[in-house]
Amino acid sequence: MTIQQQTKVIDHTHFLIDGKLEAWKGAKAQVWSPITDDEGERVLLGSTPDLPSEEGMKALEAAKSAYDHGRGAWPTAPAADRIAAMEKFIELMVPKRDEVVNLLMWEICKKRSDAEKEFDRTVTYLQETIDEYKNLHREGSHIMSVDGTLAQIRRGPIGVVLCLGPFNYPLNETFCVLLPALLMGNTVVFKPAKYGVLLITPLLEAFAESFPPGVVNIIFGRGRTLASPIMQTGHIDVLALIGNSKSSNALISQHPKPNRVRQVLGLEAKNPAVIFPDADIDLAVKECVKGAWSFNGQRCTALKVIYVHKDVRDEFLSAFAAATDALKWGSPFENSDITPLPEVGKVGYMQDYVNEAVEAGARVVNERGGQVDGNCFFPAILHPVSRDTTIFKEEQFGPVCPVLDFEDFEEVLTDIAESDYGQQVSIFTRDAQIAGQCIDHMVNQVCRVNINASCQRGPDTLPFTGRKDSAVATLSVKAALRSFSIRTLVACSADQQGLVEEVIAGGHSSFSSMNYLL
Ligand code: G3H
Repeated sequence: MTIQQQTKVIDHTHFLIDGKLEAWKGAKAQVWSPITDDEGERVLLGSTPDLPSEEGMKALEAAKSAYDHGRGAWPTAPAADRIAAMEKFIELMVPKRDEVVNLLMWEICKKRSDAEKEFDRTVTYLQETIDEYKNLHREGSHIMSVDGTLAQIRRGPIGVVLCLGPFNYPLNETFCVLLPALLMGNTVVFKPAKYGVLLITPLLEAFAESFPPGVVNIIFGRGRTLASPIMQTGHIDVLALIGNSKSSNALISQHPKPNRVRQVLGLEAKNPAVIFPDADIDLAVKECVKGAWSFNGQRCTALKVIYVHKDVRDEFLSAFAAATDALKWGSPFENSDITPLPEVGKVGYMQDYVNEAVEAGARVVNERGGQVDGNCFFPAILHPVSRDTTIFKEEQFGPVCPVLDFEDFEEVLTDIAESDYGQQVSIFTRDAQIAGQCIDHMVNQVCRVNINASCQRGPDTLPFTGRKDSAVATLSVKAALRSFSIRTLVACSADQQGLVEEVIAGGHSSFSSMNYLL
Protein backbone atom coordinates (compact mmCIF):
# COMPACT_ATOMS: atom_id res chain seq x y z
CA MET A 1 0.00 0.00 0.00
CA THR A 2 1.19 3.53 -0.63
CA ILE A 3 0.80 5.87 2.27
CA GLN A 4 -0.05 9.41 1.33
CA GLN A 5 2.16 11.41 3.64
CA GLN A 6 4.87 13.91 2.94
CA THR A 7 8.10 14.35 4.80
CA LYS A 8 11.16 16.53 4.44
CA VAL A 9 14.54 14.87 4.01
CA ILE A 10 16.76 15.42 7.06
CA ASP A 11 20.44 15.53 6.25
CA HIS A 12 21.76 15.25 9.76
CA THR A 13 25.45 16.03 10.13
CA HIS A 14 26.13 16.52 13.85
CA PHE A 15 27.30 14.23 16.61
CA LEU A 16 28.20 14.98 20.21
CA ILE A 17 31.66 14.48 21.64
CA ASP A 18 33.08 16.23 24.70
CA GLY A 19 30.23 18.72 24.85
CA LYS A 20 30.72 19.87 21.26
CA LEU A 21 28.25 19.29 18.48
CA GLU A 22 30.64 18.44 15.69
CA ALA A 23 29.69 18.67 12.01
CA TRP A 24 30.65 15.58 10.01
CA LYS A 25 31.81 16.01 6.44
CA GLY A 26 32.67 12.37 5.71
CA ALA A 27 30.62 9.32 4.76
CA LYS A 28 26.91 9.27 5.57
CA ALA A 29 24.40 6.46 6.06
CA GLN A 30 21.03 6.94 4.40
CA VAL A 31 17.91 6.43 6.46
CA TRP A 32 14.93 4.86 4.71
CA SER A 33 11.36 4.50 5.88
CA PRO A 34 9.55 1.17 5.79
CA ILE A 35 6.82 3.16 4.06
CA THR A 36 7.00 2.79 0.28
CA ASP A 37 6.19 5.26 -2.51
CA ASP A 38 4.05 4.74 -5.63
CA GLU A 39 6.85 2.69 -7.21
CA GLY A 40 7.08 0.45 -4.17
CA GLU A 41 10.41 1.98 -3.10
CA ARG A 42 11.18 2.90 0.51
CA VAL A 43 10.87 6.63 1.15
CA LEU A 44 14.20 8.35 1.84
CA LEU A 45 14.04 10.12 5.21
CA GLY A 46 17.55 11.51 5.33
CA SER A 47 21.00 10.57 6.48
CA THR A 48 23.21 10.45 9.55
CA PRO A 49 27.02 10.40 9.90
CA ASP A 50 28.62 7.02 9.26
CA LEU A 51 31.47 7.63 11.65
CA PRO A 52 34.76 5.70 11.52
CA SER A 53 36.22 4.00 14.59
CA GLU A 54 38.51 7.00 15.30
CA GLU A 55 35.48 9.09 16.21
CA GLY A 56 34.27 6.30 18.48
CA MET A 57 37.64 6.41 20.21
CA LYS A 58 37.36 10.16 20.67
CA ALA A 59 33.95 9.68 22.26
CA LEU A 60 35.41 7.06 24.59
CA GLU A 61 38.33 9.35 25.51
CA ALA A 62 35.90 12.17 26.31
CA ALA A 63 33.80 9.87 28.53
CA LYS A 64 36.92 8.50 30.23
CA SER A 65 38.32 11.90 30.95
CA ALA A 66 34.98 13.21 32.28
CA TYR A 67 34.88 10.20 34.61
CA ASP A 68 38.57 10.48 35.45
CA HIS A 69 38.67 7.27 37.50
CA GLY A 70 35.72 8.48 39.54
CA ARG A 71 37.43 11.75 40.45
CA GLY A 72 35.91 13.82 37.63
CA ALA A 73 33.58 16.73 38.25
CA TRP A 74 30.52 14.67 37.21
CA PRO A 75 30.98 11.51 39.33
CA THR A 76 31.84 13.66 42.35
CA ALA A 77 29.19 16.32 41.73
CA PRO A 78 26.67 16.95 44.51
CA ALA A 79 23.45 15.02 43.86
CA ALA A 80 21.57 18.30 43.50
CA ASP A 81 23.76 19.32 40.54
CA ARG A 82 23.14 16.08 38.70
CA ILE A 83 19.42 16.40 39.35
CA ALA A 84 19.48 19.96 37.99
CA ALA A 85 21.16 18.72 34.77
CA MET A 86 18.55 16.02 34.35
CA GLU A 87 15.70 18.46 35.02
CA LYS A 88 17.09 20.78 32.39
CA PHE A 89 17.28 17.90 29.92
CA ILE A 90 13.63 16.98 30.53
CA GLU A 91 12.62 20.61 30.11
CA LEU A 92 14.42 20.80 26.75
CA MET A 93 13.16 17.39 25.64
CA VAL A 94 9.44 18.04 26.11
CA PRO A 95 9.08 20.66 23.32
CA LYS A 96 10.58 18.14 20.86
CA ARG A 97 7.61 15.78 21.30
CA ASP A 98 5.97 16.31 17.90
CA GLU A 99 9.23 16.04 16.01
CA VAL A 100 10.24 12.82 17.77
CA VAL A 101 6.76 11.27 17.51
CA ASN A 102 6.66 12.08 13.79
CA LEU A 103 10.03 10.39 13.27
CA LEU A 104 8.96 7.37 15.33
CA MET A 105 6.12 6.94 12.82
CA TRP A 106 8.28 7.49 9.75
CA GLU A 107 11.30 5.48 10.81
CA ILE A 108 9.87 2.43 12.52
CA CYS A 109 6.16 2.80 11.68
CA LYS A 110 5.02 2.82 15.30
CA LYS A 111 1.38 3.81 15.18
CA ARG A 112 0.55 7.34 16.30
CA SER A 113 -0.98 6.54 19.70
CA ASP A 114 1.90 4.18 20.59
CA ALA A 115 4.50 6.69 19.40
CA GLU A 116 2.94 9.38 21.57
CA LYS A 117 2.79 6.96 24.47
CA GLU A 118 6.47 6.08 24.01
CA PHE A 119 7.45 9.73 24.30
CA ASP A 120 5.16 10.57 27.23
CA ARG A 121 6.01 7.40 29.10
CA THR A 122 9.70 8.23 28.77
CA VAL A 123 9.25 11.73 30.18
CA THR A 124 7.28 10.34 33.14
CA TYR A 125 9.95 7.68 33.69
CA LEU A 126 12.69 10.32 33.83
CA GLN A 127 10.72 12.49 36.25
CA GLU A 128 10.06 9.50 38.51
CA THR A 129 13.74 8.56 38.28
CA ILE A 130 14.66 11.91 39.84
CA ASP A 131 12.29 11.27 42.77
CA GLU A 132 13.71 7.80 43.25
CA TYR A 133 17.25 9.14 43.11
CA LYS A 134 16.40 11.56 45.91
CA ASN A 135 15.11 8.63 47.98
CA LEU A 136 18.29 6.70 47.31
CA HIS A 137 20.38 9.69 48.29
CA ARG A 138 18.40 10.15 51.51
CA GLU A 139 18.84 6.46 52.34
CA GLY A 140 22.59 6.97 52.09
CA SER A 141 22.62 10.05 54.30
CA HIS A 142 22.93 8.33 57.63
CA ILE A 143 25.50 6.43 59.60
CA MET A 144 24.80 3.02 61.08
CA SER A 145 26.53 1.35 63.94
CA VAL A 146 27.13 -2.41 63.68
CA ASP A 147 29.19 -4.41 66.19
CA GLY A 148 31.29 -1.42 67.11
CA THR A 149 31.75 -0.27 63.52
CA LEU A 150 30.33 2.99 62.20
CA ALA A 151 29.43 2.82 58.50
CA GLN A 152 27.88 5.06 55.90
CA ILE A 153 26.74 3.31 52.72
CA ARG A 154 25.89 5.04 49.47
CA ARG A 155 25.44 3.90 45.92
CA GLY A 156 28.11 5.35 43.63
CA PRO A 157 28.82 5.31 39.88
CA ILE A 158 30.62 2.43 38.19
CA GLY A 159 32.45 4.19 35.37
CA VAL A 160 32.12 4.53 31.61
CA VAL A 161 28.97 3.08 30.07
CA LEU A 162 28.54 1.96 26.48
CA CYS A 163 24.85 2.27 25.68
CA LEU A 164 23.26 0.59 22.66
CA GLY A 165 19.51 0.81 22.15
CA PRO A 166 16.93 -1.25 20.23
CA PHE A 167 14.88 -0.28 17.17
CA ASN A 168 11.47 -1.15 18.62
CA TYR A 169 11.64 1.34 21.51
CA PRO A 170 14.44 3.55 20.25
CA LEU A 171 13.57 6.38 22.59
CA ASN A 172 12.05 4.75 25.64
CA GLU A 173 14.26 1.74 26.17
CA THR A 174 17.41 3.71 25.42
CA PHE A 175 16.62 6.68 27.64
CA CYS A 176 15.44 4.43 30.47
CA VAL A 177 18.99 3.14 30.79
CA LEU A 178 20.99 6.12 29.54
CA LEU A 179 19.53 8.77 31.86
CA PRO A 180 19.58 6.70 35.09
CA ALA A 181 23.20 5.82 34.27
CA LEU A 182 24.04 9.53 33.99
CA LEU A 183 22.15 10.49 37.11
CA MET A 184 24.15 7.98 39.15
CA GLY A 185 27.35 9.74 38.06
CA ASN A 186 28.54 7.49 35.25
CA THR A 187 29.65 8.89 31.90
CA VAL A 188 28.31 7.47 28.65
CA VAL A 189 29.04 6.74 25.02
CA PHE A 190 25.71 6.19 23.28
CA LYS A 191 25.18 4.85 19.77
CA PRO A 192 21.58 4.81 18.55
CA ALA A 193 20.10 1.74 16.80
CA LYS A 194 20.21 1.31 13.01
CA TYR A 195 16.47 1.90 12.69
CA GLY A 196 15.07 4.71 14.80
CA VAL A 197 18.18 6.86 14.54
CA LEU A 198 16.97 10.18 13.13
CA LEU A 199 14.54 10.58 16.00
CA ILE A 200 17.46 11.02 18.38
CA THR A 201 18.80 14.00 16.42
CA PRO A 202 16.25 16.62 17.63
CA LEU A 203 17.49 15.87 21.16
CA LEU A 204 21.23 16.30 20.61
CA GLU A 205 21.22 19.96 21.59
CA ALA A 206 19.30 19.17 24.76
CA PHE A 207 22.03 16.71 25.75
CA ALA A 208 24.76 19.20 24.87
CA GLU A 209 23.14 22.01 26.85
CA SER A 210 22.19 19.96 29.91
CA PHE A 211 25.28 17.88 30.69
CA PRO A 212 28.91 18.97 31.15
CA PRO A 213 31.44 18.14 28.38
CA GLY A 214 32.27 14.45 28.01
CA VAL A 215 29.51 13.22 30.32
CA VAL A 216 27.36 12.05 27.43
CA ASN A 217 28.74 11.42 23.96
CA ILE A 218 26.49 10.47 21.05
CA ILE A 219 27.91 8.89 17.93
CA PHE A 220 26.31 7.56 14.75
CA GLY A 221 27.46 4.65 12.65
CA ARG A 222 27.76 0.90 12.61
CA GLY A 223 28.05 -1.19 15.74
CA ARG A 224 30.88 -3.24 14.34
CA THR A 225 32.90 -0.13 13.40
CA LEU A 226 32.24 1.84 16.58
CA ALA A 227 31.28 -0.45 19.46
CA SER A 228 33.72 -3.31 18.90
CA PRO A 229 36.93 -1.23 18.98
CA ILE A 230 35.60 0.63 22.02
CA MET A 231 35.10 -2.66 23.88
CA GLN A 232 38.55 -3.89 22.82
CA THR A 233 40.20 -1.01 24.68
CA GLY A 234 39.07 -2.50 27.99
CA HIS A 235 37.85 0.91 29.16
CA ILE A 236 34.15 0.15 29.26
CA ASP A 237 32.85 -0.58 32.75
CA VAL A 238 29.18 -1.13 31.93
CA LEU A 239 27.52 -2.47 28.80
CA ALA A 240 23.91 -1.32 28.59
CA LEU A 241 22.35 -3.08 25.65
CA ILE A 242 18.79 -3.79 24.68
CA GLY A 243 18.90 -6.33 21.90
CA ASN A 244 19.94 -9.95 21.76
CA SER A 245 22.43 -12.17 23.52
CA LYS A 246 24.41 -12.82 20.34
CA SER A 247 25.34 -9.14 20.15
CA SER A 248 25.98 -8.74 23.86
CA ASN A 249 28.12 -11.91 24.05
CA ALA A 250 30.11 -10.80 21.00
CA LEU A 251 30.82 -7.42 22.60
CA ILE A 252 31.61 -8.73 26.06
CA SER A 253 34.02 -11.30 24.61
CA GLN A 254 36.01 -8.48 23.01
CA HIS A 255 36.72 -6.82 26.34
CA PRO A 256 40.18 -7.90 27.56
CA LYS A 257 38.75 -8.30 31.08
CA PRO A 258 35.11 -9.35 30.69
CA ASN A 259 34.84 -9.81 34.46
CA ARG A 260 35.09 -6.03 34.84
CA VAL A 261 32.06 -5.28 32.70
CA ARG A 262 28.77 -4.82 34.49
CA GLN A 263 26.06 -5.99 32.11
CA VAL A 264 22.67 -4.33 31.97
CA LEU A 265 20.91 -6.24 29.23
CA GLY A 266 17.35 -6.58 27.96
CA LEU A 267 17.46 -9.51 25.55
CA GLU A 268 15.37 -11.94 23.53
CA ALA A 269 12.20 -13.53 24.88
CA LYS A 270 9.48 -15.89 23.75
CA ASN A 271 6.69 -15.35 26.23
CA PRO A 272 4.04 -18.09 26.20
CA ALA A 273 0.31 -17.71 26.78
CA VAL A 274 -1.40 -20.74 28.30
CA ILE A 275 -5.17 -21.06 27.87
CA PHE A 276 -6.87 -23.49 30.24
CA PRO A 277 -10.25 -25.13 29.51
CA ASP A 278 -12.10 -22.92 31.99
CA ALA A 279 -10.64 -19.66 30.64
CA ASP A 280 -12.78 -16.68 29.71
CA ILE A 281 -12.20 -17.09 25.98
CA ASP A 282 -13.28 -13.56 25.05
CA LEU A 283 -10.79 -12.13 27.49
CA ALA A 284 -8.06 -14.53 26.36
CA VAL A 285 -8.63 -13.56 22.72
CA LYS A 286 -8.58 -9.84 23.51
CA GLU A 287 -5.32 -10.17 25.46
CA CYS A 288 -3.70 -12.47 22.87
CA VAL A 289 -4.51 -10.02 20.07
CA LYS A 290 -2.94 -7.22 22.09
CA GLY A 291 -0.06 -9.39 23.31
CA ALA A 292 0.85 -11.00 19.99
CA TRP A 293 0.20 -8.19 17.53
CA SER A 294 0.84 -4.82 19.20
CA PHE A 295 3.47 -3.06 17.12
CA ASN A 296 3.39 -6.07 14.76
CA GLY A 297 4.73 -8.36 17.48
CA GLN A 298 7.99 -6.39 17.63
CA ARG A 299 8.14 -6.18 21.42
CA CYS A 300 10.36 -8.27 23.64
CA THR A 301 7.30 -8.78 25.86
CA ALA A 302 5.07 -9.93 22.98
CA LEU A 303 3.26 -13.25 23.27
CA LYS A 304 5.32 -15.38 20.91
CA VAL A 305 3.82 -18.85 21.44
CA ILE A 306 0.32 -19.83 22.54
CA TYR A 307 -0.66 -23.10 24.23
CA VAL A 308 -4.37 -23.83 24.19
CA HIS A 309 -6.08 -26.74 25.93
CA LYS A 310 -7.59 -29.09 23.36
CA ASP A 311 -11.08 -28.76 24.91
CA VAL A 312 -11.26 -25.07 23.99
CA ARG A 313 -8.90 -25.12 21.02
CA ASP A 314 -11.51 -24.73 18.28
CA GLU A 315 -13.44 -22.03 20.09
CA PHE A 316 -10.28 -20.10 20.86
CA LEU A 317 -8.75 -20.45 17.42
CA SER A 318 -11.80 -19.31 15.52
CA ALA A 319 -12.32 -16.29 17.80
CA PHE A 320 -8.59 -15.42 17.75
CA ALA A 321 -8.55 -15.69 13.95
CA ALA A 322 -11.64 -13.47 13.59
CA ALA A 323 -10.30 -10.82 15.98
CA THR A 324 -6.94 -10.84 14.20
CA ASP A 325 -8.52 -10.54 10.76
CA ALA A 326 -10.48 -7.52 12.01
CA LEU A 327 -7.26 -5.57 12.56
CA LYS A 328 -6.62 -2.63 10.29
CA TRP A 329 -3.36 -2.50 8.38
CA GLY A 330 -1.87 0.58 6.81
CA SER A 331 -0.41 3.87 7.90
CA PRO A 332 1.02 4.59 11.35
CA PHE A 333 -0.23 8.14 10.84
CA GLU A 334 -3.80 6.82 10.75
CA ASN A 335 -3.16 4.72 13.82
CA SER A 336 -3.41 1.41 11.94
CA ASP A 337 -2.89 -1.69 14.07
CA ILE A 338 -0.56 -3.38 11.61
CA THR A 339 2.08 -1.26 9.92
CA PRO A 340 5.12 -1.75 7.65
CA LEU A 341 8.08 -3.62 9.18
CA PRO A 342 11.29 -1.55 9.43
CA GLU A 343 13.90 -4.28 9.02
CA VAL A 344 15.00 -4.98 5.46
CA GLY A 345 14.08 -8.56 4.51
CA LYS A 346 11.72 -9.02 7.48
CA VAL A 347 8.66 -9.82 5.36
CA GLY A 348 10.66 -12.63 3.75
CA TYR A 349 11.65 -13.97 7.18
CA MET A 350 8.01 -14.06 8.21
CA GLN A 351 7.12 -15.95 5.04
CA ASP A 352 9.89 -18.45 5.69
CA TYR A 353 8.53 -19.16 9.18
CA VAL A 354 5.07 -19.74 7.76
CA ASN A 355 6.24 -21.93 4.87
CA GLU A 356 8.38 -24.12 7.07
CA ALA A 357 5.61 -24.59 9.64
CA VAL A 358 3.07 -25.37 6.93
CA GLU A 359 5.40 -27.95 5.41
CA ALA A 360 5.65 -29.50 8.88
CA GLY A 361 1.87 -29.83 9.12
CA ALA A 362 0.54 -26.48 10.35
CA ARG A 363 -2.12 -24.39 8.66
CA VAL A 364 -2.57 -20.64 8.62
CA VAL A 365 -5.70 -20.34 10.73
CA ASN A 366 -6.82 -16.82 9.85
CA GLU A 367 -7.96 -15.89 6.35
CA ARG A 368 -5.80 -12.80 6.01
CA GLY A 369 -2.77 -14.41 7.66
CA GLY A 370 0.42 -13.91 5.64
CA GLN A 371 -0.96 -11.35 3.17
CA VAL A 372 1.75 -8.97 2.05
CA ASP A 373 1.57 -5.39 0.86
CA GLY A 374 4.88 -3.58 0.52
CA ASN A 375 6.62 -4.01 3.87
CA CYS A 376 3.38 -4.91 5.65
CA PHE A 377 2.84 -8.52 6.64
CA PHE A 378 -0.61 -9.38 7.92
CA PRO A 379 -0.39 -11.40 11.17
CA ALA A 380 -0.46 -15.15 10.64
CA ILE A 381 -1.69 -17.63 13.27
CA LEU A 382 -0.15 -21.06 12.76
CA HIS A 383 -1.65 -24.26 14.17
CA PRO A 384 -0.72 -26.98 15.06
CA VAL A 385 2.96 -26.15 15.14
CA SER A 386 5.66 -28.78 15.33
CA ARG A 387 8.31 -28.39 18.01
CA ASP A 388 10.92 -29.00 15.32
CA THR A 389 10.17 -25.80 13.43
CA THR A 390 12.14 -22.58 13.58
CA ILE A 391 9.07 -20.57 14.58
CA PHE A 392 8.72 -22.75 17.68
CA LYS A 393 12.35 -22.34 18.72
CA GLU A 394 13.32 -18.82 17.66
CA GLU A 395 12.17 -15.42 18.81
CA GLN A 396 10.25 -14.28 15.74
CA PHE A 397 9.98 -10.58 16.71
CA GLY A 398 7.25 -10.07 14.15
CA PRO A 399 3.65 -10.85 13.14
CA VAL A 400 3.60 -14.67 13.13
CA CYS A 401 2.37 -16.64 16.13
CA PRO A 402 2.58 -20.40 16.62
CA VAL A 403 -0.22 -22.16 18.52
CA LEU A 404 0.14 -25.61 20.11
CA ASP A 405 -2.51 -27.80 21.79
CA PHE A 406 -2.02 -29.36 25.17
CA GLU A 407 -3.87 -31.94 27.23
CA ASP A 408 -1.52 -32.22 30.13
CA PHE A 409 -0.06 -29.02 31.61
CA GLU A 410 3.20 -30.93 32.18
CA GLU A 411 3.87 -30.72 28.41
CA VAL A 412 3.81 -26.93 28.62
CA LEU A 413 5.97 -26.89 31.72
CA THR A 414 8.53 -29.10 30.00
CA ASP A 415 8.71 -26.71 27.05
CA ILE A 416 9.15 -23.73 29.36
CA ALA A 417 11.83 -25.53 31.34
CA GLU A 418 13.73 -26.49 28.18
CA SER A 419 13.34 -23.09 26.54
CA ASP A 420 16.28 -20.68 26.26
CA TYR A 421 14.01 -17.82 27.31
CA GLY A 422 12.73 -16.80 30.71
CA GLN A 423 11.04 -13.42 30.70
CA GLN A 424 7.26 -13.70 31.33
CA VAL A 425 4.22 -15.91 30.86
CA SER A 426 0.46 -15.25 30.61
CA ILE A 427 -2.05 -17.73 31.99
CA PHE A 428 -5.77 -17.70 31.30
CA THR A 429 -8.01 -19.46 33.83
CA ARG A 430 -10.86 -18.64 36.23
CA ASP A 431 -9.91 -21.43 38.62
CA ALA A 432 -8.00 -20.35 41.72
CA GLN A 433 -6.41 -23.78 42.14
CA ILE A 434 -5.09 -23.83 38.57
CA ALA A 435 -3.89 -20.23 38.89
CA GLY A 436 -2.13 -21.04 42.15
CA GLN A 437 -0.42 -24.11 40.69
CA CYS A 438 0.69 -22.17 37.62
CA ILE A 439 2.15 -19.44 39.76
CA ASP A 440 4.15 -21.90 41.83
CA HIS A 441 5.37 -23.88 38.82
CA MET A 442 6.35 -20.82 36.83
CA VAL A 443 7.70 -18.16 39.17
CA ASN A 444 11.09 -19.84 39.21
CA GLN A 445 11.19 -20.21 35.43
CA VAL A 446 10.23 -16.70 34.32
CA CYS A 447 10.24 -13.35 36.07
CA ARG A 448 6.59 -12.33 35.78
CA VAL A 449 3.45 -14.46 35.70
CA ASN A 450 0.51 -12.51 34.27
CA ILE A 451 -2.93 -13.74 35.21
CA ASN A 452 -5.64 -13.25 32.57
CA ALA A 453 -3.57 -10.53 30.96
CA SER A 454 -0.97 -10.30 28.22
CA CYS A 455 2.70 -9.84 29.06
CA GLN A 456 4.08 -6.34 29.36
CA ARG A 457 6.81 -4.30 30.93
CA GLY A 458 4.71 -1.65 32.68
CA PRO A 459 3.86 -0.06 35.01
CA ASP A 460 7.46 1.12 34.93
CA THR A 461 7.83 1.05 38.70
CA LEU A 462 7.62 -2.77 38.58
CA PRO A 463 10.81 -4.77 38.15
CA PHE A 464 11.45 -5.77 34.54
CA THR A 465 13.91 -8.59 34.07
CA GLY A 466 14.29 -12.15 32.80
CA ARG A 467 16.05 -15.45 33.36
CA LYS A 468 18.30 -17.49 31.02
CA ASP A 469 18.88 -15.65 27.70
CA SER A 470 16.23 -12.99 28.35
CA ALA A 471 18.04 -10.42 30.51
CA VAL A 472 20.90 -9.53 32.80
CA ALA A 473 20.10 -7.10 35.65
CA THR A 474 16.76 -5.54 36.47
CA LEU A 475 15.18 -2.40 35.14
CA SER A 476 12.45 -0.23 36.65
CA VAL A 477 12.42 3.35 37.85
CA LYS A 478 14.09 2.19 41.06
CA ALA A 479 16.07 -0.83 39.84
CA ALA A 480 17.80 1.00 36.96
CA LEU A 481 19.50 3.33 39.44
CA ARG A 482 20.73 0.30 41.33
CA SER A 483 21.84 -1.48 38.16
CA PHE A 484 24.05 1.48 37.23
CA SER A 485 25.65 1.89 40.62
CA ILE A 486 27.66 0.05 43.21
CA ARG A 487 27.50 0.20 46.99
CA THR A 488 30.45 1.95 48.51
CA LEU A 489 30.93 2.54 52.20
CA VAL A 490 33.02 4.50 54.60
CA ALA A 491 33.67 2.60 57.84
CA CYS A 492 35.56 3.08 61.08
CA SER A 493 35.51 1.82 64.63
CA ALA A 494 33.32 3.63 67.15
CA ASP A 495 36.31 5.32 68.75
CA GLN A 496 36.67 7.43 65.57
CA GLN A 497 33.28 9.05 66.17
CA GLY A 498 34.81 12.45 66.92
CA LEU A 499 36.68 12.58 63.62
CA VAL A 500 33.59 11.47 61.69
CA GLU A 501 31.51 14.15 63.38
CA GLU A 502 34.10 16.74 62.47
CA VAL A 503 34.18 15.67 58.80
CA ILE A 504 30.40 15.97 58.63
CA ALA A 505 29.96 19.14 60.66
CA GLY A 506 32.77 20.88 58.76
CA GLY A 507 31.26 19.92 55.39
CA HIS A 508 34.61 18.36 54.44
CA SER A 509 33.11 15.58 52.29
CA SER A 510 30.10 15.38 50.01
CA PHE A 511 29.96 11.58 50.41
CA SER A 512 30.14 11.73 54.20
CA SER A 513 27.46 14.31 54.68
CA MET A 514 24.03 14.38 56.21
CA ASN A 515 22.55 16.67 53.57
CA TYR A 516 19.02 15.51 52.91
CA LEU A 517 17.65 16.18 49.47
CA LEU A 518 14.02 17.18 49.71
O1 G3H B 1 10.48 -4.64 23.80
C1 G3H B 1 10.40 -4.71 25.02
C2 G3H B 1 9.72 -3.62 25.78
O2 G3H B 1 10.38 -3.27 26.95
C3 G3H B 1 8.31 -3.98 26.05
O3 G3H B 1 7.67 -3.01 26.74
O4 G3H B 1 5.63 -4.32 27.32
O5 G3H B 1 5.67 -1.86 27.51
O6 G3H B 1 5.66 -2.93 25.27
P1 G3H B 1 6.07 -3.05 26.70
